[in-house]
Amino acid sequence: MTDSISQSTPRDTLLHVADLHFWKVTCNPLHLLNKRVLGNFNVWWKRRHQFAMDRAAEFVEGLASAGPKSLLLTGDFTSTSLVEEFAMARAFVDTLRAKHFDIHAIPGNHDVYTFESVRAQRFEKYFADCHPKSGLPARVTLPGGTPLILVPTVCPNFVSSQGRITEAEVARTSELLAQADDCILVAGHYPLLDKTHGYEMTKDRRLRNAASLRNALGKSGKRILYIAGHVHRFSYVRDPDFDNLSHLCTGTFFGRNPRENIDGEFAEVRVNDADFVVIRHTHSNERWSNSTKHRVGSPDQN
Ligand SMILES: [Fe+2]
Ligand SMILES: [Fe+2]
Repeated sequence: MTDSISQSTPRDTLLHVADLHFWKVTCNPLHLLNKRVLGNFNVWWKRRHQFAMDRAAEFVEGLASAGPKSLLLTGDFTSTSLVEEFAMARAFVDTLRAKHFDIHAIPGNHDVYTFESVRAQRFEKYFADCHPKSGLPARVTLPGGTPLILVPTVCPNFVSSQGRITEAEVARTSELLAQADDCILVAGHYPLLDKTHGYEMTKDRRLRNAASLRNALGKSGKRILYIAGHVHRFSYVRDPDFDNLSHLCTGTFFGRNPRENIDGEFAEVRVNDADFVVIRHTHSNERWSNSTKHRVGSPDQN
């Protein structure tokens, strides 16, 4: 597979939005009897400065003006899985629905932040209409026929931010891959590579068993673009071991990224018959701009 950019009309185009992190500082002591006591402090200290929620509605216009209507949301809708945060995230998704987006959503680790929120199935209840009813992994099909496989990667933790995918879930993902036509999109919340040119994940923020899923994707024999969020940084790389596998991470939709002097981003993925094209849309100085990105690590890039 090469990164030469096809000029033909893509088979499908998917927009990717990551890590919304709607937040609310809670003072209710009943909400602070678990891991949320840490997360609440983090929200108060950092997140309220990084995530300007009042920009959410304004940024929907930027998303809508990009054109494509298939939209992937890879989780971290909330910060500590509070009902109030889910309600804000749902209102945001309703705004997208009003713009006629076809939405595919999976949870992030912040959407299963407490064991209580998992027991209450809060994510599944708030996003029932854009999440597979049969659970994950699941395969959906984009309008042009492109398979999109959604994989489970999140679990609650007492302290860390680690994710998890089981061997049984990897095996089921392999079955879904085997039954799918070539040029496949796979989406999870966690990246499968610990480190790229764009980010480095500390051990307590990684996906447990990532190597097994990566191996399954790499050995599938299909051309695959794996799409994730979680690291709040943009990265598009060829897998170091599997030429058929590429990895895309998209930064936060309306979070500030002072390192690059941007305050929001999303990605546009065009699927052709034999390759993928990734376009990064970034927001700075009150306007959106975009550029086509090449895979880092591709033979034709070295
Ligand atoms: Fe996040
Ligand atoms: Fe995350």
